Amino acid sequence: MELPPLVLDRDAGRPLAVQLAEGLRAATTDGTLRAGDRLPSTRALALELGISRTVTAAAYEQLLAEGWVQGRRGAGTFVVDAPGPAVPVRPAPAPAPRPVLLDLSAGRPCTEVIDRAAWRRAWRAGADLLADSEPDPVGLVAFRGAVVENLLRHRGLAVAADDVLATAGSTAAIAELARILPAGGRVAVEEPGYQRAVAALRAAGLVVVPVPVDGAGLVVDALPAGLAAVYCTPAHQYPLGGRLSAGRRLALVERARADGFLVIEDDYDGEMRYDVAPLPLLAALGRDVVVHLGTASKLFSPTLGVGWAVLPPAVRGALLDLRDRTGTRPSLAGQRVFAALAGHGDLARHLRRLRRELATRRSAAVATVTAAGYRPRGDAAGAHLVVELADGPTERAVLAAAADRGVRLDGLARHHTGAIDTAGVVLGYAGPTRAELDRAMAVLREVLAG
Ligand SMILES: Cc1ncc(COP(=O)(O)O)c(C=O)c1O
Repeated sequence: MELPPLVLDRDAGRPLAVQLAEGLRAATTDGTLRAGDRLPSTRALALELGISRTVTAAAYEQLLAEGWVQGRRGAGTFVVDAPGPAVPVRPAPAPAPRPVLLDLSAGRPCTEVIDRAAWRRAWRAGADLLADSEPDPVGLVAFRGAVVENLLRHRGLAVAADDVLATAGSTAAIAELARILPAGGRVAVEEPGYQRAVAALRAAGLVVVPVPVDGAGLVVDALPAGLAAVYCTPAHQYPLGGRLSAGRRLALVERARADGFLVIEDDYDGEMRYDVAPLPLLAALGRDVVVHLGTASKLFSPTLGVGWAVLPPAVRGALLDLRDRTGTRPSLAGQRVFAALAGHGDLARHLRRLRRELATRRSAAVATVTAAGYRPRGDAAGAHLVVELADGPTERAVLAAAADRGVRLDGLARHHTGAIDTAGVVLGYAGPTRAELDRAMAVLREVLAG
């Protein structure tokens, strides 16, 4: 049997298997292939079309699943008698080619500096986890030991392994904490702030109260009475970038004790700071009222899916009880990988590389923004800075102009919980490669100057 000409376009942006399945399906509906016709073997067709056998096998599987063909043991694959409704299935129109966007949104990790060999070695070490290992709601001892070391060396917090709980990352931990706070309780969040935290709190039925921030982070004096908790990012306010001043740190902890609320300290990028002295963690000032959250997402990558929490004993007990009742626990694999990275000294080496790289990138970003006539904000720490703009329309215009030139910028508008009172762009410089960042900076210079 002669097959109809099948045209496969490697540049079409759609998988070859999908294109092949479409071509064969069209041939059965337009009569080129008839009921009972035998298709060539996947191997023969692959050879004829110059493509891999995985592609032909995937296309055949698709047609089998849809009922256009059927397999007969030992005989091959045949077009069926009644291939479902006799309506020709029109291939979906190919999506219009989109310009490749260099993504400068904040929050992406700097994976370019990850030592691939060390990363693979750690995953191999993670792979000897036995399938019948016991689920562990607290976290692996080796992982918690690595966290203890990291907190002491890089965040100045002395804790014991028993004080640490493994989490599935900061946002997942916020969602867990939200479920043990009093139902319907009021939780203060920074405005602008981290909207995934806001969503996690709201999803648990809590009432979110936005509180203003300024150049020194959360305005502690503006906290209302009657709070169950305060969520904040003291090391590098997300997204505006202020560092919570020492005075405000003390005031917040004192206020938490006096009013009986819990402080959630999201230390998402606390390992990075430039030309400024370290400030004590809130947890170092008030272990009795502060839940400290750290994550491997910015240090390495969110693909690890791990983070850690240091909590007051009663909160820790309540969280473990929640995990027990709901059968939830953090995955062990990411913890194993993180522990292996720390155990081999790769974590320390990586951190040194990451800090150097981010310091260079930050200088480049600051230089670009300054050259365009703006004063960057929040650049003393972390991996993003903010360029304040006059108003919302200007923000939207800058975002659109950058997108036209292939650069995705992040506007401040989407980081607000209530009324939008600050306009600007949040410039994440960790995510792209260095070469991409250079290109993006050239675009940014033009767009800001325009
Ligand atoms: C303020 C803040 N906290 C936490 C996270 C994410 O951490 P995780 O991946 O551990 O949930 C982000 C990610 O962008 C963030 O911006």
